[in-house]
Amino acid sequence: MSTTPNIVLNVNGIEVIYNHVILVLKGVSLNVPEGKIAAILGGNGAGKTTTLRAISNLLKGERGEVTKGSIELRGERIENLSPADLVQKGVVQVMEGRHCFAHLTIEENLMTGSYTRTDKAEVARNLEKVYNYFPRLKTRRTSQAAYTSGGEQQMCAIGRALMANPSVVLLDEPSMGLAPQIVEEVFEIVKDLNTKEKVTFLIAEQNTNMALKYADYGYIMESGRIVMDGAASDLRNNEDVKEFYLGMGGGERKSFKDVKSYKRRKRWLA
Ligand SMILES: Nc1ncnc2c1ncn2[C@@H]1O[C@H](COP(=O)(O)OP(=O)(O)OP(=O)(O)O)[C@@H](O)[C@H]1O
Ligand SMILES: [Mg+2]
Repeated sequence: MSTTPNIVLNVNGIEVIYNHVILVLKGVSLNVPEGKIAAILGGNGAGKTTTLRAISNLLKGERGEVTKGSIELRGERIENLSPADLVQKGVVQVMEGRHCFAHLTIEENLMTGSYTRTDKAEVARNLEKVYNYFPRLKTRRTSQAAYTSGGEQQMCAIGRALMANPSVVLLDEPSMGLAPQIVEEVFEIVKDLNTKEKVTFLIAEQNTNMALKYADYGYIMESGRIVMDGAASDLRNNEDVKEFYLGMGGGERKSFKDVKSYKRRKRWLA
């Protein structure tokens, strides 16, 4: 019997172009195993957000489109599904920069995440579950989001996504602008949700150190390409990853592009 987990999301050789001319993703392929945490790592402008947006079909508002390749959810092509259809299928994205509704309370924000659901009792149970995972949100349930801390707003954004009862959460840069201790707190909750609720996560992160501590698998992205991938534990111990992404180098080389063997690593480029 095979112990290989099923692949829930399969991104296969996608290209993304913005404004009809700017080629940003140059053939990105990745697999997200069911019930695991996968991370897309890389610096500013590498293409992490674009990859998540391609999956959740949120590129249109940015004048972007997938021009090549395919995206499958449990074997079904999803490129032509609307973001709302994807929510129905259990795929929800938490945007970069949190995007809580500033004038709504924390609880009102959370409730906006359940707009597709009709069973009030189920929704109420879901809300209690979110408060269970995020006790801080329960304390602040009647506070206007604008007056809560950055960490609480990030928790609110994740909590709101959970109100749609998703099986897959695409989480964009959860560490952005947060103190290390709060980042850790957020990741601990993500891990908990993954373990106990079996939610699959695909997380885009510049904070390689934190992401590799919690993820099962990582993809490293540079200039719209995956340049390396592997089990998080292998990536953590990889000399190049340590040097370029974990701040343990101090040398001249800053990315896989600077490495002679870069071409060999670009194995996703057919
Ligand atoms: N709407 C857009 N129109 C044109 N170019 C864009 C658009 N959005 C992003 N880009 C470009 O696409 C590239 C990838 O951007 P993306 O936001 O996906 O990177 P990222 O890895 O998420 O970076 P960061 O860590 O800073 O969030 C960048 O060069 C960016 O300038
Ligand atoms: Mg981004």
